[in-house]
Amino acid sequence: MNISDSITYVGVNDHDIDLFEGQYIVPNGMAYNSYVVRGGTGADAKVAVMDSVDERFGSEWLGNIAGALDGKEPDYLVVQHMEPDHSANITRFMEAYPSAQVVASAKAFDMMERFYGENYEDRRVIVKEGSELDLGGRILRFIAAPMVHWPEVIMTHDATDKVLFTADAFGKFGALDVDEDWACEARRYYFGIVGKFGKQVQGVLKKAEALDIATICPLHGPVLSEDLGYYLGLYKTWAAYGVETEGVCIAYCSIYGHTKEAAELLARELEAAGCPKVAITDLARDDMAEAVEDAFRYGTLVCASPTYNADMFPFMKTFLDHLADHAYQNRRVALIENGTWAPAALRSMKAKFEGMKGIELVDLEVSIKSSLDAETRAQIKQLAELLA
Ligand code: FEO
Repeated sequence: MNISDSITYVGVNDHDIDLFEGQYIVPNGMAYNSYVVRGGTGADAKVAVMDSVDERFGSEWLGNIAGALDGKEPDYLVVQHMEPDHSANITRFMEAYPSAQVVASAKAFDMMERFYGENYEDRRVIVKEGSELDLGGRILRFIAAPMVHWPEVIMTHDATDKVLFTADAFGKFGALDVDEDWACEARRYYFGIVGKFGKQVQGVLKKAEALDIATICPLHGPVLSEDLGYYLGLYKTWAAYGVETEGVCIAYCSIYGHTKEAAELLARELEAAGCPKVAITDLARDDMAEAVEDAFRYGTLVCASPTYNADMFPFMKTFLDHLADHAYQNRRVALIENGTWAPAALRSMKAKFEGMKGIELVDLEVSIKSSLDAETRAQIKQLAELLA
């Protein structure tokens, strides 16, 4: 696939993976993107390859590079990010092309030594913010992007073709041979993997504003070349922890169905009260990363949990830990608990939210004693009217 006359896609699709980064289900697989950038046709023209791919796809990737270059050898491997889904084939590349050099940040070379036992002291080019690599008329300019998603990350701008290579940013779950909506899997990817680093993402988006960009080439997911304002706009909202969609996310756990009944009653009452969107998730059965994504997407979150071992239910605890770990903030939160003899879920959920920034806890709390009764049903209706 040609991105332009000078840039060719040489990445791979992975449909064998069970869990991405050891935790995320990826029903439509994963793509590890890589690109060949040719400097031109003159005698001084150089070729750079942007990042390698997951370890299991080294042969396929090297084959793609050879096919794209038709006998010519690459001069550089640009390593934008050292996470092994992109760096695992550096060694194979350097063995296959003994005259090539590696281009990366100083931090990336430290990591290279630790991961692969080699920092290519005699075959490396260390770059930082503003450094340039001349491919013979075509200049690659590097942009430091620390913590998007690791500290060593650089992005790369090719002003000739107006292409920004964005490392993990603007990536998504899903292989490229599966046709699916971008935002859903890009949002789940963003909040799961980069969400904690909103400040750093905002910093890099600000730098990107000064660049001429017609195409975004991420390390996962499709190349983006149309309606870039849509993708940049979503990233701005996500990075700023803003509300993307007006509505309510209800996250619940239930042991014998009574808390589930309360959550579902709230969903119906919210819809009846005109709430624009209600997303409901069973934290024990649905994908946790999808629940986290929804918590960030909507302006209001309702947590409903039974009491368990004088605490909230374990899946709720995991969910709230995920939110805290990903810097969840600036949201309205309402709480529902259930307990038969000594309800404690409310107290423990509240304590978790009190440690998060900008959380507005709704005063109206619902405490169910075993199962819904007339009083708690009325409270849920009242809560729906308040939230909608
Ligand atoms: Fe796709 Fe942070 O690695």
